[in-house]
Amino acid sequence: LSSYFADEWRKERPDAVYTYRDLAVEPIPHLTSAVRDYIMDPDGDHGVTAEERALVDAVATEVRNATTVLLAIPMYNYTIPSTLKAWIDYLVSPAVMVAVGAETGPLSGKPVVVITARGGSYAPGTPREGRDYQEPYLRAILDSIGLADDLKFVHAELTLAATVPAMEKLRPLGAKSLADAREALRKLAA
Ligand SMILES: Cc1cc2nc3c(=O)[nH]c(=O)nc-3n(C[C@H](O)[C@H](O)[C@H](O)COP(=O)(O)O)c2cc1C
Repeated sequence: LSSYFADEWRKERPDAVYTYRDLAVEPIPHLTSAVRDYIMDPDGDHGVTAEERALVDAVATEVRNATTVLLAIPMYNYTIPSTLKAWIDYLVSPAVMVAVGAETGPLSGKPVVVITARGGSYAPGTPREGRDYQEPYLRAILDSIGLADDLKFVHAELTLAATVPAMEKLRPLGAKSLADAREALRKLAA
């Protein structure tokens, strides 16, 4: 789905540049105290390595420079994978947060598209309604850095129905969720 959105987005904007970061292939390390101190106070000497400094700066620069941000995320244990949490821990800093009392911050106004894939369904009326800790968490943290002004979620649900025999009856619903997600992404990319 993320490739589909990216392809459609590029089709509409042939001259646009993009950056791609695969957090599974190149995981961002968990925060250390030194890296956290550097994020809070980039001018101080906190004993961070040049590599750590470069990674913190690269994550922030990528988001600052983006005109559209796409996050593509599997659901792990009702929430985001820890690889994405590490990226968020590197990104969120006083430099990008919406200050207390302010309405906007340096990242405000960017369109953000979040695509999730989840094995089950969390739709209203389903047995697991209320256990989606991805969307509420991401809404909250993205809002605190100004990235919730134009924030869209697209969920592909019941992805495990295709392979888990006990979910066989849910296959048509899983296929519909995937088709609906593609259609929603086509419209968003345009
Ligand atoms: C470690 C792990 C934890 C998972 N936890 C959940 C979960 O809590 N709820 C759920 O609906 N699916 C869960 N799944 C299933 C994945 O969300 C699902 O397979 C999804 O389609 C994975 O994304 P992908 O298809 O892009 O690989 C889990 C999968 C893994 C590997």
